[in-house]
Amino acid sequence: MKVTAGAMAFMLSWGTGLSVNAQTKTITIYSGRGQKLIEPLLAQAKKDLNLDIQVRYGDTAELAIALLEEGKNSRADLFFAQDAGALGTLETQKRTLPISSNLLNKVDSRFRSPQGQWIGISGRARVINYNTKLVNKNQLPTSISQLTQPQWRGKVAWAPTNGSFHSFVTAMRVLEGNPKTLQWLRAMKANGVKDYRNNTTIVEALGRGEVQLGLVNHYYLPNLKKTNPSLPVAAHYTNKDSGSMINIAGVAIMNSTKQKPEVEKFIGYLLKPSSQTYFAKETNEYPLVKGIPGPANQLPLNKLNPPNVNLTNLNDLPGTLELLQQAGVL
Ligand SMILES: [Fe+2]
Repeated sequence: MKVTAGAMAFMLSWGTGLSVNAQTKTITIYSGRGQKLIEPLLAQAKKDLNLDIQVRYGDTAELAIALLEEGKNSRADLFFAQDAGALGTLETQKRTLPISSNLLNKVDSRFRSPQGQWIGISGRARVINYNTKLVNKNQLPTSISQLTQPQWRGKVAWAPTNGSFHSFVTAMRVLEGNPKTLQWLRAMKANGVKDYRNNTTIVEALGRGEVQLGLVNHYYLPNLKKTNPSLPVAAHYTNKDSGSMINIAGVAIMNSTKQKPEVEKFIGYLLKPSSQTYFAKETNEYPLVKGIPGPANQLPLNKLNPPNVNLTNLNDLPGTLELLQQAGVL
């Protein structure tokens, strides 16, 4: 007699007196979100959902490439990405499955795939941080394009190798086209923009007065202010350009999964008020489920003026890297 895996599981469970339904299932997540951040949440989810959760951690863009290479043979059930562009790539390469509408509907349509192929879990806004001692509020630029003006010569910081900077440039390409974006990048170089390793080092440099303005994500400043409340740095949002874009960290169900119901249970878990609040508290990111209070001391999500951009279209990272090279930024 040929014993199928299902029959074997049944026989084993019979032998131990457990019912088949009580068996713990395993899902595998490829996570571009850091281990330190999500491990406590996963530990709780394992208990609450009676689910075993395996994780492969890595850089979001690198994991997206791995998922494309592995194709249907991938052991990943879910991709937890740190930006929408990577999710958009997997969507356009047909590696994702549609998410149930009862989950999708928990989040504003701006923050999920129009085709229902990925969903945002938390929001990450681009922002200009500035040194409050060196810059007068009424001098602040109202658009990113103004940063190429002589008054900002040598006073602006960016992090050209950073993933969130790449998403920002991709958004500019989507909103204004390649020629204008290239022109802006070159004008920024010509205006002496200063390169930093990442967003944290930019906010620190702003605190020291080494630069006056910095292009960063919104949550770095509140995170640094936890340990250094007197840091003379504040946040300023431009109006409807890529400088105030809201990106997401979010998830997609991989089409290699055989466990869509368990994966959706887990997505539902990430959208629960307690998980949403966890992200707001731990990272100062914006909860995306309606009615959940935002991070403390941050402008509420509905007070920001982000541009209208389909986040799935932020998927052309190679095109952005090429443009940055062409401009001499990378
Ligand atoms: Fe970041």
